[in-house]
Amino acid sequence: MKLSGLTVGIPREIMPREARVAALPETVRNLGKEGARVLVEQGAGAGCDAADAEYLQAGAELCAEAAELYGRADIILKVKEPRFSSRHGRHEIELMRPGQILIAFLHPAAPDNHAMVRMLRDRGITALTLDGIPRISRAQSMDALTSMSTVAGYKSVLMAANLMKSFMPLMGTAVGVIPPAQALVVGAGVAGLQAIATARRLGAVVTASDIRPQALDQAASLGAKPLPTDVPPEEALGAGGYARALPERWLSHEREVLRPAVQAADMVILSALVPGQVAPLLVDEAAVAAMRPGSVIVDIAIDQGGNCACTAHDDTVTHHGVTIIGIKNIPGQMARSATWMFVRNLQHFLFYLAADGKLPLDASDDIVASTLVTRDGKILHAGTLAAMATAENEVRA
Ligand code: NAI
Repeated sequence: MKLSGLTVGIPREIMPREARVAALPETVRNLGKEGARVLVEQGAGAGCDAADAEYLQAGAELCAEAAELYGRADIILKVKEPRFSSRHGRHEIELMRPGQILIAFLHPAAPDNHAMVRMLRDRGITALTLDGIPRISRAQSMDALTSMSTVAGYKSVLMAANLMKSFMPLMGTAVGVIPPAQALVVGAGVAGLQAIATARRLGAVVTASDIRPQALDQAASLGAKPLPTDVPPEEALGAGGYARALPERWLSHEREVLRPAVQAADMVILSALVPGQVAPLLVDEAAVAAMRPGSVIVDIAIDQGGNCACTAHDDTVTHHGVTIIGIKNIPGQMARSATWMFVRNLQHFLFYLAADGKLPLDASDDIVASTLVTRDGKILHAGTLAAMATAENEVRA
């Protein structure tokens, strides 16, 4: 059995507005079949309607206190990175013990998380980050980030539609015809394509832009009108056909290409991103000022800094009558479906890593190499080390 003799802990998430959880009762059953003892903090599943009694029935042991769970588990499964707990008056990492394994979304390269990564290193935690799972076919079932982008793309359109003061579809009424809403989606990756499909289902006329020609083709196949950026493929595409971070002169060209489409849109969904990089600035303040009052922007790329100059970190603001949503944890607002996908991705990842009651974590394996953040008192994650070096250079300069 993969997990025989191991104790797996599922704490309650403590991030504000985080309703997801790292295991559902069905997960507890599956981990149990592989020989694990599962500890669940009381109330951990409440945000997605999984009751303590269901976890008990599935074979879990409930812990009233997070400290007990962190103290006893060999492996901690979490949704979001550990943080200071005002309830305990201590950081979650201080509740952990050396040698413990932590698997969660850690976003370790983000400067805000560097201190947390150093704490993990100093505490001797073996930490793996789910946002490091590579987008390769054998890792598809473990790709929690893709699952969460699917939720974010769908929900972003609903959030925008909810704030709009007009219908999305064309409405033929006895007193005249109301034209359909115009939606613009920038960045037609996982989140963007889901946003396009959702906006189309609601009846909007959708325009989509991306620097990858293949993404534009996919957007068109979902019924969006493609808006090419004219960025030449040699500038736009890197290894494996992925997007590359553009130099400022091309970004400035792209902002001009997008400007009329932004102005015409009732709803703009921004999801342009190059993995591991700061999000490109594609909508400046002048473009926002030129939009019709009452229009809505949802900046999904806010985790990496956002695509719009006016987006406020984890907040909703109004500029020139335009509402700009920069809520960070969109999947947390659709906790049941998000958790359903997340726990399955996480279980696939854990079962991939485990053999005979151990997690060997062979660093020559590309999935392990790209997810391993700290081990044996060292930071191993290449993107994090590079981001930390950049941050230190900036401080020195
Ligand atoms: P993805 O990598 O699948 O898609 C990003 C797309 O942006 C790609 O198609 C790429 O070609 C395009 N792109 C890159 N540079 C561009 C540029 N200069 N102009 C136009 N397009 C450009 O990424 P995914 O999974 O769709 O995620 C998108 C964003 O959503 C990320 O920033 C991710 O962190 C964020 N996200 C946010 C969540 C939230 O709760 N706020 C939840 C999940 C994802």
